[in-house]
Amino acid sequence: MKKVQLTETVLRDAQQSLMATRLPYADYEDILDDMDKAGYYSIECWGGATFDSCLRYLNEDPWERLRNLRKHLPNTRLQMLLRGQNLLGYKHYHDDVVEKFVELSIKNGIDVIRIFDALNDFRNIRTALEATKKYAKEKTVASGCISYTQSPVHTVDKYIEMCKELKEMGFDTICLKDMAGTMSPYEAEHLIKGIKDAIGDMPLILHTHCTTGMAYMTLTKAIESGIDVIDCATSCFSGGTSQPSTETMFYALKQYGIETGLDEDIINKVNDFFKPVKQKYIDNGQLNPKSLATDAQALVYKVPGGMLSNMIANLTDMHAMDRFDEALAEIPKVRADMGYPPLVTPLSQMVGNQAVTNVLIGERYKNISKEIKNYIKGEYGISPAPVDSSLIEKVLGADGQPVDCRDEDQKRTGEEFTAAKEALGDLCRSEEDVMSYICYPDQTLKFLKDRKAQEENEVVYTIEEM
Ligand code: CO
Repeated sequence: MKKVQLTETVLRDAQQSLMATRLPYADYEDILDDMDKAGYYSIECWGGATFDSCLRYLNEDPWERLRNLRKHLPNTRLQMLLRGQNLLGYKHYHDDVVEKFVELSIKNGIDVIRIFDALNDFRNIRTALEATKKYAKEKTVASGCISYTQSPVHTVDKYIEMCKELKEMGFDTICLKDMAGTMSPYEAEHLIKGIKDAIGDMPLILHTHCTTGMAYMTLTKAIESGIDVIDCATSCFSGGTSQPSTETMFYALKQYGIETGLDEDIINKVNDFFKPVKQKYIDNGQLNPKSLATDAQALVYKVPGGMLSNMIANLTDMHAMDRFDEALAEIPKVRADMGYPPLVTPLSQMVGNQAVTNVLIGERYKNISKEIKNYIKGEYGISPAPVDSSLIEKVLGADGQPVDCRDEDQKRTGEEFTAAKEALGDLCRSEEDVMSYICYPDQTLKFLKDRKAQEENEVVYTIEEM
């Protein structure tokens, strides 16, 4: 019997997409023992924005959350999303820091590490891959992830080449990550058939979002074309900017005669559990019902929905909404000049801001933002197509050479870790604390100070009691 497995995203991408990752661990602890019996391929529960949100908003230690998840989900693969050399942020970290982060993630309970680079410059995901292999346990899976986008240079052949490269690098599975939800059923069919032909029985995963309304059709075509795993969210946390619904896909696949391994009663129980949780965040305003709607504009303008609303907000602030159409038309031109980067954070903001600047000043690239200059210097990695030569000359000078984002400087070891440990002093209790600080210094410092103060209060309280 043909088999398609499901990854449940409610604990990571679904809540990140719908309610800015503000779901505290305590809200879902009581359903974890059931979720462990559901039969998911994996539960995506960590990484992405969850780490930052734990420290910044929820006063939770992300590592402790992971250990708790592990305790309650002993039989299910726990999955995280990792931005290669950038870990969970946008800065390139030294190799030993990347290696230590992966080591600790596996040690604290992660099984599947889905590793991507915003530009699909795979040099930026090699260190994380090698660390995953080095510290792998029996169930560890290194998943190579491609940021999906559309452009004249992002052809089916190009994606097939990328998949072959990921396979050669030694990844166990490959994931196509359609973060803007713009992959159409037509594209899914050609892409997945082509990739499956090229990579044989290596598992292929599709991650998409319902944002533009394409997702269910795209998944149907993906299933017909041989996809092995799809990402879904329990139905009350599905749709809109989130993933398609777990139960809906379960019932559809059942009629196809395709096995999912899911337990029908349990996946329905999981959804029943999350219904009041969702209602609580609708009531307090943290889940904006707007995020549940379909927005097909991304298909018209070829820019992700989030980028469009960002641009409208910026133009409104500058009392320049009358220039909206011009700015919108400028986005694809800037993207082409920059070699067609996928429009994901932070590139979406960078391209959007430069387009607005070009239009408002009335002369293209008279002002170039620091971030775009760094991109053109090569600090983010290699662009999918060459950057426009006159733009390179403007930034680097007539005979300037781009920098190598994988130069010796990045391979240095010890410095970032030692400096972070020293900065924390007696606030630091573990390597995990140091790693949190390296990723989010300000938030971690505040979190650890609060933790210390809380402990001291508890001690004083105990003494008084005696
Ligand atoms: Co996503």
